[in-house]
Amino acid sequence: MDDRTEMIELEEIPAELRGVLDQVLNLGVTEEQFHLTRRSILDSIVTSELLGDLDAVRIAALGKSGVISQWLKLIGTLPPENRAPVSARFNRVRDEVQRALEKRKVELERAALDARLAGETLDMTLPADVPPTGTIHPVSQVMDELAEIFADLGFAVATGPEIEDDWYNFTALNIPETHPARAMHDTFYLAGEHEKPMVLRTHTSPVQIRAMQAAGGDKPVRIIAPGRTYRSDSDATHTPMFHQVEGLVIDKGITLGHLKWTLETFLKAFFERDDIVLRLRPSYFPFTEPSAEVDVGFSIVNGKRVIGGSGGGNGGGWMEVLGSGMVHRSVIEAGGYDPNEWQGFAFGCGIDRLAMLKYGMDDLRAFFDGDVRWLKHYGFSGLDVPTLSGGVGA
Ligand code: PHE
Repeated sequence: MDDRTEMIELEEIPAELRGVLDQVLNLGVTEEQFHLTRRSILDSIVTSELLGDLDAVRIAALGKSGVISQWLKLIGTLPPENRAPVSARFNRVRDEVQRALEKRKVELERAALDARLAGETLDMTLPADVPPTGTIHPVSQVMDELAEIFADLGFAVATGPEIEDDWYNFTALNIPETHPARAMHDTFYLAGEHEKPMVLRTHTSPVQIRAMQAAGGDKPVRIIAPGRTYRSDSDATHTPMFHQVEGLVIDKGITLGHLKWTLETFLKAFFERDDIVLRLRPSYFPFTEPSAEVDVGFSIVNGKRVIGGSGGGNGGGWMEVLGSGMVHRSVIEAGGYDPNEWQGFAFGCGIDRLAMLKYGMDDLRAFFDGDVRWLKHYGFSGLDVPTLSGGVGA
């Protein structure tokens, strides 16, 4: 493009104004300089290749101390009657430069856009990026399954703090200070001075006390309490943090029969098999009397242990899944209930172990490594909500 065509015709200065211009010339603008400067500005504009360069030209010409601004300032030094024609001339150049700047700016912007579009071609045949989606951790899944199964039996979900004082974790559960069970729990104690010794709860059983207190001592209680628990222990089947679910029923006339039926119904729904066989083995827990450990029968199918059936025969056997019993009188009392009027049963069960038995993982530590490959393999889709009708295992 010939930039000269860009220039507007400037009428020659009328003869009678020569003297005026001379005055301006004296102030530093010769006629030749005026034309040369104007041309050089317009040249710089059309040859600018970058928006940044173009802006530099604008500042040099029209900025506060730019050439054209300087000219315009000189006008004030002319006698008033001569100012108009000279300022008209300078203003025309200023407008001309402004238009040229604007035009070049549009050109450069368009060129930049064209270059970007040319560089950003889209290959519509490429497969779309699949955004990474998470999975539901098997522990969360099993907790949802438990909540679903027990909701159907009329149980609410209760929670309690993971940092407990030793009254809730031990004393109220009939484990006095000198009791050897305190040592058996490999308890994590919190450092520092506290009103009562503070522990990371070693089981979910303190929620029994909290649930009874919340119910107020005069209403039946039917809750499960899933959550994190802590013991100083670590190998392939023990991690310092693990998960339990507590179950508690307090009512009038509750018997071992209710306990057994509830556990059988729960385990059949959980393992999604009707041939679940239970064995209640007499045991000891300070907070239940009598106490029973519960085993489920397993069979051997293609060389693998499968929950359901057998128990004793055909190479199968028993697997311990939970601890349970009738709530001890002193625990009922600690919860604010009269043990002569109210009875109940309780059970506690390792959630991680339930998940391992149902879904076939064999190393508990992998549960808490956060390895996405493991989570992809063993995790569940967020859309597969456990329901009793659809199969809690989704
Ligand atoms: N709290 C016991 C444990 O952690 C389990 C349990 C709960 C046993 C409730 C009986 C009743 O081993």
